Amino acid sequence: MLIRHAPDLTDNDVTDHGLYLKRRTLMTGLAGVGLAGLAAGEARADLSFTKGFSTTEKATPKEDITSYNNFYEFGVDKGDPAEKSGRFKPRPWTVRIDGACEAPRTVGIEDLIKANKLEERIYRMRCVEGWSMVIPWVGFPLKDLLTSVKPTSKARFVAFETVMRPSEMPGQAWNTLDWPYREGLRLDEAMHPLTLMAVGLYGDVLPNQNGAPLRLVVPWKYGFKGIKSIVRISLVENQPVTAWNKLAPREYGFYSNVNPAVDHPRWSQATERRIGEFRRRDTLPFNGYGEWVADLYRGMDLKKNF
Ligand code: MTE
Repeated sequence: MLIRHAPDLTDNDVTDHGLYLKRRTLMTGLAGVGLAGLAAGEARADLSFTKGFSTTEKATPKEDITSYNNFYEFGVDKGDPAEKSGRFKPRPWTVRIDGACEAPRTVGIEDLIKANKLEERIYRMRCVEGWSMVIPWVGFPLKDLLTSVKPTSKARFVAFETVMRPSEMPGQAWNTLDWPYREGLRLDEAMHPLTLMAVGLYGDVLPNQNGAPLRLVVPWKYGFKGIKSIVRISLVENQPVTAWNKLAPREYGFYSNVNPAVDHPRWSQATERRIGEFRRRDTLPFNGYGEWVADLYRGMDLKKNF
């Protein structure tokens, strides 16, 4: 499928964009100096990126994106991830890509960043709880990573797993979810050009609370599909178990496409509160990305497959 720029998609209108571009140039210029001053394992990625498919809606301020989070490995309150993720070490880091593929591999985060063409993608994110943000991610299409391991014809789904590190993630001591956090996509969803592996936010490396060093972003699905701090990606034959679906299957389906016509059993999904705004706004089918993704679900009953 061809991704083209819709009328609302230009490069303007991103809060602080000029500012962080300047800072990035500065960082790039100082890279040699800066790296020498860092301890081993703390090397920071140089996130050189181009601009990709983006909304022109005003981006949510970085302070909000990094302080109002869901990351249950650090606690269940919105402030916990920022407050309690200081001990978490996102580097060095490797991710294992395996399962139904010809060339399984384990790859380091810096190699992944070097090998892939990074893009900034400014996407809307709609949480299943009824709030939303506009987030300038930096990343690369998941499709590029999956293609590199040569999926076999047995691969029909993709399963993702978050790291298990109770010593650094205090929330993993609690039975809130069946750890490790797991998510999944159908292979065609995973191969869709909008599906992103994010390694950065607002032009910098991903903060711990947002899923450092590598997280999934699927903009037409509820935010919980965007699994954070990924250590394993497996090509599998059968629909994988996912964390929220396992906990409450009546409330959180496998597909979890944003759908204002299918309410959560305990609240309406018709509207949302954009963080920073006062009035609620209408929620759009597929979070406004239907033009590009509705075809994936042609013929499916989306009330059943919620
Ligand atoms: N990934 C892991 N590993 N653990 C989590 O608790 N929460 C999910 C998703 N990814 C979660 C996760 C939910 S419910 C949402 S809405 C988004 O992350 C929030 O992403 P953000 O904090 O970067 O906005």
